[in-house]
Amino acid sequence: MRIAITGGSGFIGRCLVSRLLAQGDQVLVLTRRLAPARRVLGEQASLKLLQYDPYQPQAWAEALEGYEGIVNLAGEPLASSRWTEAKKKEIRRSRVETTQALVQAITTLSQKPQVMVSGSAVGYYGSHPEGDPLSEDAPPAQDFLAEVCQAWEAAAQPVQELGIRLAIVRTGIVLGPDGGALGQMLAPFQFFVGGTIGSGKQWLSWIHREDLVSLICFLLQQGSGVFNGTAPNPVQMEEFCRILGQVLARPSWLPVPEFALELLLGEAAQVVLTGQKVIPKAALAAGFTFQYPHLKEALRQILIG
Ligand SMILES: NC(=O)c1ccc[n+]([C@@H]2O[C@H](COP(=O)([O-])OP(=O)(O)OC[C@H]3O[C@@H](n4cnc5c(N)ncnc54)[C@H](OP(=O)(O)O)[C@@H]3O)[C@@H](O)[C@H]2O)c1
Repeated sequence: MRIAITGGSGFIGRCLVSRLLAQGDQVLVLTRRLAPARRVLGEQASLKLLQYDPYQPQAWAEALEGYEGIVNLAGEPLASSRWTEAKKKEIRRSRVETTQALVQAITTLSQKPQVMVSGSAVGYYGSHPEGDPLSEDAPPAQDFLAEVCQAWEAAAQPVQELGIRLAIVRTGIVLGPDGGALGQMLAPFQFFVGGTIGSGKQWLSWIHREDLVSLICFLLQQGSGVFNGTAPNPVQMEEFCRILGQVLARPSWLPVPEFALELLLGEAAQVVLTGQKVIPKAALAAGFTFQYPHLKEALRQILIG
């Protein structure tokens, strides 16, 4: 298949690109910065990189001609700094307006793709400390992230009017060896000071990056609608830290108090302090099989190999 990807240089995207290339697909990555993307993704005959301004579709729309699948993963990182008004604007714009621009680009193509897999996040559901299981039909919350996710999903919807199959992935916390949330948690654990964050009772809907990439590949072939991109067995933060400590053979004993995190991250702290227990009902119903349904095996594979 010929697949074009936005956000292909990122933590999820680079793993997806390497999987698609390994299975013989041809890949086009739209990137804002060619040289760093090239460093991350390397060179291969079936991989093309194109520098783009995600807000100026008329300049690059033509490059999408003939691509059968589009994967839309671009977005300003959430937890890299405090959520100032400018940062919040960028978080929203880099998802909603870039998706609108991508859809606009697709509209102009004479040979349109058959399928678009577009990003969203479990932040859609907001905070559910009571741990009620949330499947795809649960209602959205009202907070900033939930509002961004709704607008991000809505921005992708018009491709369906063009006859394109649309699958939206509400991704949970993605676990992989080289970055993401786990990367940030590992350093303190390796120095024996890792531990639960906040109350420890918040639910963590995680997914092994390989499973998320498999789900995206699965959706490029079949399925439409919304799919929670989370493992079938979410855990509470204290359980997550206990298992992480076990896998690393390190104690998990020092809790990080909520106020410290709020001081450091401000409103962005809500990403780790509040949680939700998300269930991948649609993926399971569609026949998708998780290679890492349980956290211990996922962490073992990531950290020990
Ligand atoms: N990782 C997770 O745990 C997780 C969880 C839920 C949802 N998601 C969502 O899944 C998507 C991919 O996640 P990821 O972890 O791979 O993210 P990432 O590593 O931060 O990569 C995202 C990519 O988006 C592009 N990008 C970054 N800032 C941008 C901006 N301001 N405007 C336009 N493009 C920008 C970059 O590509 P170029 O520089 O090459 O253009 C970057 O490589 C994101 O939208 C994220 O919100 C991730």
